[in-house]
Amino acid sequence: MVDSIPELINFNKIGSLNLGYISVGEVQENVPFEIKRVYWTYYTPNHVIRGHHAHIELQQIVIAVSGTIVFDLENENGDKYSFTLDDPDLGLYIPPGYWRTIRFSHNGVLVCFASEKYDEQDYIRDYDNFKKKLKISGEE
Ligand code: TYD
Repeated sequence: MVDSIPELINFNKIGSLNLGYISVGEVQENVPFEIKRVYWTYYTPNHVIRGHHAHIELQQIVIAVSGTIVFDLENENGDKYSFTLDDPDLGLYIPPGYWRTIRFSHNGVLVCFASEKYDEQDYIRDYDNFKKKLKISGEE
């Protein structure tokens, strides 16, 4: 199941300090999947930890367009990764099969490009189940 690993993506940054910047995500250029959905999360109090789930098929690129957002990721083999997103030109590619917990600074705004439409069936929301389910599908 784990056939690719989470990776940081440096989006290009067009502009200057004087004028401000624009960054662009483009399918096949720096986004390795067709984008079927975009969502954003905001006003998350900084004592709240979000996530606590994995996805079976979904691929995502997440960007902290404001503030600082920390992603802790783990795959079914127990490999752990921690990424701090603190610059709007930085993205994180999350392959399928990663349990995530997410912490936000008070001004953290997360934008996510997603490879699929919303589907609750694609979520694994129980950690023990996550470890079991992915092991079984990897053995098929
Ligand atoms: P969830 O993905 O669990 O968010 P987080 O990991 O950030 O805590 O989603 C939270 C709620 O929002 C859940 O009830 C499902 C709903 N939701 C949608 O309806 N559509 C979407 O595209 C997303 C991402 C979530």
